[in-house]
Amino acid sequence: MSTIRGRSLLSLSDLTRDDLVEVLDAAESFVEVHRRTVKKVPALRGRVVASLFYEESTRTRLSFETAAKRLSADVLSLAVASSSVKKGESLRDTIATIEALGIDAVVLRHRASGAAEQVARYVPDVRVINAGDGQHQHPTQGLLDAFTVRQVLAERQGARGSETGSALFAGLHVLIVGDIRHSRVARSDIDAYAALGAEIRVVAPPTLLPPGIETWPVQIVDRLDDTLEWADIVSLLRLQHERGTGRFVPSLAEFTTTFGLTVERLARVRPEALIMHPGPINRGVELDAAVADAPAAVITRQVANGVPIRMAVLFLTIAGNREDES
Ligand code: CP
Repeated sequence: MSTIRGRSLLSLSDLTRDDLVEVLDAAESFVEVHRRTVKKVPALRGRVVASLFYEESTRTRLSFETAAKRLSADVLSLAVASSSVKKGESLRDTIATIEALGIDAVVLRHRASGAAEQVARYVPDVRVINAGDGQHQHPTQGLLDAFTVRQVLAERQGARGSETGSALFAGLHVLIVGDIRHSRVARSDIDAYAALGAEIRVVAPPTLLPPGIETWPVQIVDRLDDTLEWADIVSLLRLQHERGTGRFVPSLAEFTTTFGLTVERLARVRPEALIMHPGPINRGVELDAAVADAPAAVITRQVANGVPIRMAVLFLTIAGNREDES
C-alpha cells in the first residue's frame, strides 16, 4: 500500500522506492501544466490548504503556495510574524483555530524538530505536510532534488524521467558536502537517494557530522579533495548560521579552504557531474560565486522543480485516496 496517498508527509524515512517513484512520476505530469498558457488544473478545486511558516523561507513557501493555486486549491497563508503567535498563542491553539476554519491540509515549517509530527497528532483528520522542521526532515526538498537528478540524467538519454523509474539512480555516486549535522536537507536527501539505489558519501569537518552517523547508509570521507573525482552528483549544504554552525568551525574562511567547492576544485569534478545546492546559497562559503553560475550547476532548476514536486505531494496527500473523492 502506498505510504503517501491520502496521508500526511512528515518524513522520507518511511517511503519506499515505489512511493518515491510515484511522486516523481506525478510531478513529471505537473511539469506539463507549467508549460501551458493557463497554468492551472482543477484537481484540488474546493480544497483548502493552510500555509504556516514559523521560520523564514523563500523557495519552499512560494513554491508550495504556487503549487496549491495551480491545483485550484484555496490557500490560507498565515503571516506568523503579525499573528496571535506573537501574543503567545501556542502551536496547538493556532492549529486548532485554523482547523476550525475548515482546511484539508496544512503545510508547516517550524524551527523545532518534530513539530510536523506533533501537529499531525493535534489534527488527525488534516493532512500535514512537513516543509522543514528543525534539523529533522525536509521531505519535499529531498523529492525535488531526486526529481532534478532524474530529469537531467533522463534528458541526456533522450528519455522522460518516468520512462526510467528508479534505474538512473542505481549505483549513482552522490557526494554530500558540508553541514550534515544541522541539515534536514541532508537527512531527506539521504533517505531519498538511498531508497532509490544510489551510493552516498558525505564529507564534512568532524564537528559538523551528527552523532550516530555510523548507522546511516553513507560512507564518511575525511577530505573533499580525495573524493571529488568519484562524484556524479556534488550536493552542497548551506552553513546554517541560525543553528549556530559558526560555533562548529574555526572560521568560514577555513571551512571554504577545506570544504568549499572552489573554481579550482570544480575543474577536478567529472565533466558530466551535477552541482546542487538547496539554497539559499552563501556565495564564497560553500561554493565560489562562479561555481554557482557554472553550466554544471542545476540550482535554479532545483528551485523550478519545487512547484511540480509540491503539486504532486499536495495532490497525492489530499486527493490521492480515491475513496475521499465522494
Ligand atoms: N531550500 C529551502 O528550503 O529554501 P527556503 O528556506 O528559502 O524555503
